[in-house]
Amino acid sequence: MSEERLRIAIQKSGRLSEGSFDLLKSCGLTISRDKDKLYGRVREMPIDILLLRDDDIPEFVADDACDIGIVGQNVFEEERLEGAQDKPAQEVMTLGFARCQLMLAAPKDWTFDSPTMLEGKRIATSYPALTRAWLEKEGVNARAVTMKGSVEVAPRLKIADTVCDIVSTGATLDANGLKPVANVFSSEALLIRNANAFTQGKQEIYDALLKRINGVLTSRDAKYVMMNAPRSAIEAITEFLPGADAPTILELAGSPDKVAIHAVCRESVFWNTLEELKKLGASAILVLPIEKMMA
Ligand code: PRP
Ligand code: ZN
Repeated sequence: MSEERLRIAIQKSGRLSEGSFDLLKSCGLTISRDKDKLYGRVREMPIDILLLRDDDIPEFVADDACDIGIVGQNVFEEERLEGAQDKPAQEVMTLGFARCQLMLAAPKDWTFDSPTMLEGKRIATSYPALTRAWLEKEGVNARAVTMKGSVEVAPRLKIADTVCDIVSTGATLDANGLKPVANVFSSEALLIRNANAFTQGKQEIYDALLKRINGVLTSRDAKYVMMNAPRSAIEAITEFLPGADAPTILELAGSPDKVAIHAVCRESVFWNTLEELKKLGASAILVLPIEKMMA
């Protein structure tokens, strides 16, 4: 048995923390969530957790202070564009939570019809690199004014004319008399890793964890769907089931023309899916959650 442990960086508190803790929990890992602690040890696997500010995560992973990390694409991409590290962390995969948008926002009384309106303006942002890249793409000459926080107050303080900031519900903009006018970058949680090869021991822990993460992600939308249907409708129903492989067909006692169809649907099953199935002749439709799945 090797003594090696995989070190994972996650956000201590903020947009990503809840989802990151949930994901690791769904992977069967228990982490104590002591508010003052920066460091947590996982019991079930040789894994250590470091709780950091989101902005520090790409650098910690790049510098080999951590092996992997969960960070917002917004933060990762901003630091990549800045070129702060000689050997930046590598993207592994997106994780489907903590979605948000970096948006250009203007005072509510602006009639914004095109990015050319920003010509010569000052834009307050914590994401100067992403903002400049977007301005360049749009062919606009404007100045990004870097602020570490409270970006939304900049227009009122006359430090800037507009802002480019993260929006999720839009409440912050609204409360500050601003409205979103253009999407600069769409973001979600991203798994990153150190660019160097892991030792064999570490690689094994990493592979095992990744297998679990993949299992969690694929089972997230997945449902076990059961229904009764006329034998003649099997083909039409099978084609209709969202993201299902070959379903299981079972005889129904006493009714030779009817069967039970059981299938694992890997994509979301909505109410209108059920309504369509019903139109195809299905009855007694049940949709059950799937807790775990491994290919
Ligand atoms: C962003 C942004 C706003 C808030 C917007 O901050 O700067 O404060 O989120 O969210 P809303 O649209 O739901 O009101 P963030 O959470 O990224 O914090 P940080 O800059 O401290 O990391
Ligand atoms: Zn932050």
